[in-house]
Amino acid sequence: MWAARSPVAYPLANVVHVLGAVLLVGAIGILDLRLLGAWPALPAAALDRALTPLGIAGLLTMLASGTVLFAADAASLATSAIFQWKLLLIALATANALLFRRLRAGGDARTHPAARPMALASLSMWLAILVLGRLIAYA
Ligand code: HEM
Repeated sequence: MWAARSPVAYPLANVVHVLGAVLLVGAIGILDLRLLGAWPALPAAALDRALTPLGIAGLLTMLASGTVLFAADAASLATSAIFQWKLLLIALATANALLFRRLRAGGDARTHPAARPMALASLSMWLAILVLGRLIAYA
């Protein structure tokens, strides 16, 4: 497979994957902590406007680079329980983020009673995804 044979594809995709993780979890993690009550003096709407596009860029970077990493070792990754858990959590965490955006239709999502539980779920899931990603190599 080209991703495994090329001397640069895997290391390059790995570096891009880590940079994407910093972008994604950094951006969404700060938004989640703000929703959970950190930095009350910082305007939440302005933070949201600045960090949401960075989080989306991070997620797209993860999906693209993750696909290359997967292609290099697809057969064993497809049957790895850690990898399957990671994909399931990515789907759930992304659905959680999209649902939070949709709460906006009924007013300011940040004041919704579900906002804090959703922020806590988001933070926990993205951190778990980071840990599972790192653990794949040791399974
Ligand atoms: C559909 C999207 C994704 C795919 C297909 C994917 C796939 C992969 C693959 C195949 C690896 C290499 C595993 C190995 O060592 O053999 C990996 C590593 C990793 N992934 Fe992902 N990933 C995706 C999204 C994410 C996301 C969203 C995060 C974090 C929030 C993440 C965090 C990591 C981390 C931390 C590593 C370890 C990097 C290293 O140790 O150098 N991945 N991923």
